[in-house]
Amino acid sequence: MRSKIVAGNWKMNKNLTETEALVSELVAKVPDTTAEVIIAPTFVNLQSAAKHVENSIIQVAAQNMHFADNGAFTGEISAEMLKDIDVDIVILGHSERRSHFGETDDLLAKKVNQAIEKGMRVIFCFGEELEDRKSGNHFNVVASQLKNGLYALPAEAWSKIVLAYEPVWAIGTGETASPEQAQEMHAFIRKEIEEAYNSGISEKVTILYGGSVKPNNAEEIFSQPDVDGGLIGGASLKCDDFTAIIKAI
Ligand code: 13P
Repeated sequence: MRSKIVAGNWKMNKNLTETEALVSELVAKVPDTTAEVIIAPTFVNLQSAAKHVENSIIQVAAQNMHFADNGAFTGEISAEMLKDIDVDIVILGHSERRSHFGETDDLLAKKVNQAIEKGMRVIFCFGEELEDRKSGNHFNVVASQLKNGLYALPAEAWSKIVLAYEPVWAIGTGETASPEQAQEMHAFIRKEIEEAYNSGISEKVTILYGGSVKPNNAEEIFSQPDVDGGLIGGASLKCDDFTAIIKAI
């Protein structure tokens, strides 16, 4: 059985007071579930969030990290710094990092390798732009993001990898992929990984869908056989919405 995951990417939202309030509310209200529940607040509030979730099922992830151990990288955060505050999950490759901050497949491969080397789990994001889908190039784009970002990894590293397919046109737009579109792409992703590695790995890897998942569409999307949960943006910032999405899984 693959693990099911509902993860909340808070992006650049919530100051410390707001973070503490939302985390406390989530800890109190998180539904009983066999799925993993993960939240990713901004860097400066990770330590507080990690402390607040200590006695709950909620885990805390970072939204990014650097590929080097340490050194002259002004403004950056290392894997060791995250692990030191009990954060051992990191989101890498989010489309906002790729498009606003110029993160390339090559850079992401370095970050993924570093995270794995440091024993962290990675939620690796990828997905096509609207033009790619319109031109029918979406499968090629996704295949190349997977290959360039991940296929240098040895087979044993895949137990630490979670995939998050996030079509860029569905992020923050209110326009979600249809359940059929999500299933079609997730099945394609699994097939690609089977070809690159083997079916043992492709059947075990958790593949999340991200892009305008809300309480009213989560159940339909999560019911698809190759969709193992969601990476939630906007709806993860409200306790009631996020817990409703957790219930949907
Ligand atoms: P929304 O749920 O706000 O569309 O964001 C999705 C996302 O980018 C999660 O990483």
